[in-house]
Amino acid sequence: MVQMTLETGKKLAKINKNIYGHFSEHLGRCIYEGIWVGSESTIPNTDGIRNDVVEALKKIQIPVLRWPGGCFADTYHWRDGVGPYDQRPAMINTHWGGVVENNHFGTHEFFRLCELIGAEPYICGNLGSGTVQEMQEWVEYMTFDGESPMANMRKENGRAEPWKLTYFGVGNENWGCGGNMRPEYYADEYRRYATYVRNYGENQIYKVAGGASVDDYHWTEVMMREAANQMDGLSLHYYTRVSKDDWSIKGSATNFTEDEWFSVMKSALFMEELVVKHSRIMDKYDPDKKVALIVDEWGTWFDVEPDTNPGFLYQQNTLRDALVAGIHFNLFNNHCDRVQMANLAQTINVLQAVILTEGEKMILTPTYHVFDMFKVHQDAELLPLHVDCGEYRFNDEAIPQISASASINEEGKVHISICNLDPKESAEISCLIRDGHYTKVSGLILTDSEMNAHNTFDNPDNIKPELYKEAVLENGKLHTLLPPKSVVVLSLE
Ligand code: AHR
Repeated sequence: MVQMTLETGKKLAKINKNIYGHFSEHLGRCIYEGIWVGSESTIPNTDGIRNDVVEALKKIQIPVLRWPGGCFADTYHWRDGVGPYDQRPAMINTHWGGVVENNHFGTHEFFRLCELIGAEPYICGNLGSGTVQEMQEWVEYMTFDGESPMANMRKENGRAEPWKLTYFGVGNENWGCGGNMRPEYYADEYRRYATYVRNYGENQIYKVAGGASVDDYHWTEVMMREAANQMDGLSLHYYTRVSKDDWSIKGSATNFTEDEWFSVMKSALFMEELVVKHSRIMDKYDPDKKVALIVDEWGTWFDVEPDTNPGFLYQQNTLRDALVAGIHFNLFNNHCDRVQMANLAQTINVLQAVILTEGEKMILTPTYHVFDMFKVHQDAELLPLHVDCGEYRFNDEAIPQISASASINEEGKVHISICNLDPKESAEISCLIRDGHYTKVSGLILTDSEMNAHNTFDNPDNIKPELYKEAVLENGKLHTLLPPKSVVVLSLE
């Protein structure tokens, strides 16, 4: 029996809606085909951006979208992506598949996308192969109102008003594809570049420094020691794979046994240790939590789908990915005092995508449905939820069977999200609800009899959320029997 206690009268901290953010890179078919088809396309579009994708993304209320990379960001020269299409130079996307990038999707198109889906833009600048001047001028191009060389260029390119730009990343993975730097060197470079990322007029930029890979705590230590007072956020990247220690063992996205199910659950839970340990270092230099932990790349990374370009990172998405998403959201919610943003890698056709496309066809993945179910936590207040759960054991190892978090929104509605990580055993849950008077419970569930249940272009609705009517609320106690391998979100009124 899983015993939980929920304290509805004690608000811990606001769950920043940006925890439900996304990341879209010029990688494979994420931008081209997935988002951008061009205005001449027969696929219905608005200014070149797919209408079906816009509608789907609007529904899950993406708060913030990171672009143009990733590793691509530190090879990207923004001037190539503005002005008339026939004058934009083509380049080779050296990092991802060696394909030709025609630069038709650039700054104006990205802001248009954000406007259409209602997301805030989060731009990642090029520190690895770009200059300080180039970065400074990009910010000026986007945000300066009035007469200036860059603002005038923007106007000539059809945009009179500056855009509002809040989030700006000063480089990406600068320990690797962003320049192979040591943290001591990057910290100085960060300080230099960040100096020229200026606030023009009313526009206030929230600067995100490139953070650690996985458990590189030394990176976080050095960045916090040397540059904390010049940043608003420090990033962290970690991908869930079958083997968290060996990059050569990623595993198949769809063809797996319980062995790999268990490893993936365990690997996803490792994110909690990372958040706790990086936060501890941050606490030392920043006890008031002024600098946020920005997990701007997370998600599953499996072998690419057979017969697809290995440089495109296209993978299917199953119920297992849905559980991974649920685990991440619960732990980000529970650490929302420090985690202020997270960005799924990546929105469409790449890694743990929420949408897959094939020509004019589009499907929603199980991960999409988890974003939809969990959106109720966006900007709500985190509540203390004490969970005393059993273990999910496999062979000689054990992990907690349950992952959960709870919040209360402005209208006083309480939401509890619970994942049952065990693919074979149900979880009997008894939750004491303290302090509030709630009489109605409703919910949604995402589950299936198969661990690898997924949607295909021939069967797009194979797995989708259903109404969950198995929860009973009586005398201040919630009781339910959660099916194996399920994600549930309950609403209490
Ligand atoms: O998301 C794919 C890649 O993973 C990104 O480009 C890079 O930042 C990370 O290594």
